[in-house]
Amino acid sequence: MAQKSISDHLIETIRERSDLVAIVSEHLSLKKTGQNFTGLCPFHEEKTSSFVVNPVKQFFHCFGCGEGGDVFHFIGKMSGISFPEAIRALADRGGIPLPEEDGPLGGVSRTESEEIFAVNEAAAAYFHHNLLDRPEGKPALAYLNTRGLTLDTIRDFSIGFALPAWDDLVKALAKQFSIALLEKAGLVSKKTGASVSAQGKAAGYDRFRNRVLFPIRTRQGKVAGFGGRVLDDGMPKYLNTSETAVFTKGKILFGLDRSKVFGADPLIIVEGYLDVISAAQAGISNVVATLGTALTEAHLRLIRRLTEKVILVFDGDEAGVRAALRTAPLLIDQEIAAQIVTLPPGKDPDLLIREMGKPAFLAELEKGKPIVDFAITQSLKKSSLKQVEDKMRVMRQIAPLIDRLRSQIEKSHYLKVLSDTLLLREEDVRTEFIRLTQTEKKIPSKTQAPAVIEKQERIPDEEEKILMLLIQGYLEPEVLNDYFSLDDFTHPLLNAVIAHYWDAEGNKWCNRTKGMSPKDQASHSLISRLSVSEVDAELVKQIEEDCMNVLHRKKFDRERNAIEYQLKQVAGDSEVKKVLMKKIYDLKQKSSHLAGSH
Ligand code: UTP
Ligand code: MN
Repeated sequence: MAQKSISDHLIETIRERSDLVAIVSEHLSLKKTGQNFTGLCPFHEEKTSSFVVNPVKQFFHCFGCGEGGDVFHFIGKMSGISFPEAIRALADRGGIPLPEEDGPLGGVSRTESEEIFAVNEAAAAYFHHNLLDRPEGKPALAYLNTRGLTLDTIRDFSIGFALPAWDDLVKALAKQFSIALLEKAGLVSKKTGASVSAQGKAAGYDRFRNRVLFPIRTRQGKVAGFGGRVLDDGMPKYLNTSETAVFTKGKILFGLDRSKVFGADPLIIVEGYLDVISAAQAGISNVVATLGTALTEAHLRLIRRLTEKVILVFDGDEAGVRAALRTAPLLIDQEIAAQIVTLPPGKDPDLLIREMGKPAFLAELEKGKPIVDFAITQSLKKSSLKQVEDKMRVMRQIAPLIDRLRSQIEKSHYLKVLSDTLLLREEDVRTEFIRLTQTEKKIPSKTQAPAVIEKQERIPDEEEKILMLLIQGYLEPEVLNDYFSLDDFTHPLLNAVIAHYWDAEGNKWCNRTKGMSPKDQASHSLISRLSVSEVDAELVKQIEEDCMNVLHRKKFDRERNAIEYQLKQVAGDSEVKKVLMKKIYDLKQKSSHLAGSH
């Protein structure tokens, strides 16, 4: 295995230094509930917290999607990196040196994602150097000057420049990185067979040429891709990195790495790179931009973990309004309190800030309207309300939005607003609302939590609970020796846990001190769930008894079935029959002593 040079002991040391609660808290907000912490699961969409972290066991588990595991698993899943990489990342964090045997990763191989981030980082540094230090960068620097950017801002965002040449970047980075990797990062296109150079070495040409480049970073600050602007009015105005393993437009927000939304701070969402940059230069932080796409559900999920409040700023054109309306249902579903701001025609935040200053922009932000009010206003714009058909159109447009609101108070509020603005009786609006929303087939949310385990037989409750008591230390494994063997646990998913407590050589249950190491995701998930499930200490005794009883009864049933089967086989032989009948009788006697069984 790749991590062979990292000993188990070292892994345990890294684990001890990495507090799961602290690490999870960097990605979502956790609340203390009983002995656990809970929050919104980062791995699936949800509105109520089913993500649980157990600080003692250092396990997490989501009761919604079944994801769960230890700190390595969390980091791996969260950052999309492998187990060895997660070890490495946490070792770095905890300041634990790793052996440097097989290369820079101490025997831990980098994943493709890590490699792409690394090549992007190098490219960003190179582009930045082009802009600031090379004569060829002069025109780009001059352009950024006309856009009002200071040198500090250029450094702050590590803005760069790709030279006009076809292969400037390839040449600069080829010593360090393979063409294949540059290609995977979306920085280079490979030349086709015919143009492979004479040395037989495949070469490529740069994707970005003669453009100002804005590095686009992940929330963690890694360069995922670039947005490249022409210096004149060439087309396309912006060329972005195409989709790569680490760059998906619908999942990244430009500027999110720098924004520090906190508590009740709203996140301000604008449309362009330069809107974010101008705002930052004017001292307005917490501004992010989508990458030329409408806000997606993935964006909102990301945002939802940081804040419940956003201000959406759209350019004052038709496209801006349409984009805002398209986002409305998503915002309502995510219960994000969004204020919608549309700027005066022809203005975007960058222009507004540069021409009229920060206060003018902040004043515009103050004019924002809640999403439903905004939708009503837009809907009213297109009609005189003289015709009843106009009123019906507004109703049809707005009713589905109101229907999505979770709060009855909000619903009532907007139905009242509608009746006031449409000059209709409130009860009529209500009746019509019900008619419209009930006939309108409700489209189920497509992002439902994935099932924990595929259609498989449920784990018998008592088997599961006994193991939960074992894992959480309420029950000593040795106790089981008096009652159960391996076969009494019937569900295959329990094997990983059982194997942990079962001493195969001694054919008995035993206590282990080492951690469990489930091999597959389902076991991982089960173990984490059993680890974080809250056990009411007073009920432990009861659960234990109940479970034991059920298990006993099952064991009894199995034994009796076996005997009854034998009975059938020996139909004629009355001596054997007698013995078997006696066995059944004994079994019944034994089981009747069990408390609670019937
Ligand atoms: P805009 O056309 O509003 O440009 O595109 P802008 O941000 O105001 O740019 P400047 O001020 O003229 O430099 C808004 C965003 O849409 C994406 C970019 O992310 C841009 O910031 N876009 C736009 C593209 O991806 N490609 C394009 O060709 C144009
Ligand atoms: Mn602009």
